Amino acid sequence: MKDILDYSLLAHNTFGIDARCHRFLEFATVEEAQQVADILKQTDMPFIIIGEGSNLLLTRDYEGIVVHSAIHGSRVVEDTEQATDSIYVEYGSGVVWDDVVAESVNNGWHGAENLSLIPGEVGASAVQNIGAYGAEAKDLIIRVEAVEIATGNIVTLSNDECQYAYRQSRFKHEWKNKYLVTHVVYRFSRNYSPDLDYGNIRHALEAKGIGGTPSPQQLRQTIIEIREAKLPDPKVTGNAGSFFMNPIVGRDVYEHLASQYENMPHYVVDADHIKIPAGWMIEQCGWKGKSLGHAGVHDKQALVLVNRGGATGNEVVALYKRIIEDVKAKFGIEIHPEVNVI
Ligand code: EPU
Repeated sequence: MKDILDYSLLAHNTFGIDARCHRFLEFATVEEAQQVADILKQTDMPFIIIGEGSNLLLTRDYEGIVVHSAIHGSRVVEDTEQATDSIYVEYGSGVVWDDVVAESVNNGWHGAENLSLIPGEVGASAVQNIGAYGAEAKDLIIRVEAVEIATGNIVTLSNDECQYAYRQSRFKHEWKNKYLVTHVVYRFSRNYSPDLDYGNIRHALEAKGIGGTPSPQQLRQTIIEIREAKLPDPKVTGNAGSFFMNPIVGRDVYEHLASQYENMPHYVVDADHIKIPAGWMIEQCGWKGKSLGHAGVHDKQALVLVNRGGATGNEVVALYKRIIEDVKAKFGIEIHPEVNVI
């Protein structure tokens, strides 16, 4: 177990903010997770659990404990209820998410291709219900294994119990700081039926001369290229991916706006609800490519806020609050950060 006092979080947040924490605890096994649970139970200090820090904005030094999983490895698990065309694989919560996708594609396990290159780790995939190009982690998650902090008990939480929704789960609300996720079991399919309908996937495949059904490797590569063209590499430019969630509005609100903005992109959620891309609204407000202090709005995807170099967390906060105000004033819709602001 790693147990370090006065620790810099610079390497643990993709925004590249240089903040420190009072104590850093990292567990590499379930037993170590139980030891960490014991420490957390006995102290009054606040704590946060982080993954790769790709969805985190630090605005100050954190006078508390930062907990991280370094449980690695994967194993195929057998399940009595498992359909014959599926394969269940358990991953440690500290495994890098894209390594899961790469391994599944290489092994002919299907369903994760569209989630290629999403930053983050396995534990966060289950907390945040990461998603892209029409796929979400919840479609793959069978169960989550965790240590309950209050008791040190090892528990298994089913997909249903986790109450997944768009970028949401019970772990973000009533279960916040209740569990240390140790493993996640994903279900992949042995049959390949790719989802190419979202956004510009088909167009991007055609542009590469790939008509018909791409191979899983071709699909993964194309998704990687689409993401690389739109989203800044955090190793070069600090960022936390999409900064805001896409708001879901009632049909009446959508229809009112659609009558004013003819080409407004949108996704139908259900008969009564429509999702409107926040990135589009931010661009309409004139923010794309602009800066406030050392924080800015990415020039290729307005949903992404970037550290132009040496930005403080508070500069990013000032920028995101201005954007929320401007979107509210122009569209009457309140958007909310997707990242965790500490
Ligand atoms: N758009 C603009 N201007 C912009 C950005 C977007 O007009 O600056 C328009 C696009 O043209 C498109 C629509 O908005 O019509 C949606 O854009 P895009 O497909 O780029 O996706 P998004 O809704 O902005 C979401 C996820 C991303 C994920 C993509 C692709 C959220 C909060 N974000 O973004 O996830 O990669 O879809 O599926 O749901 C992340 O969570 O960190 C993330 C990158």
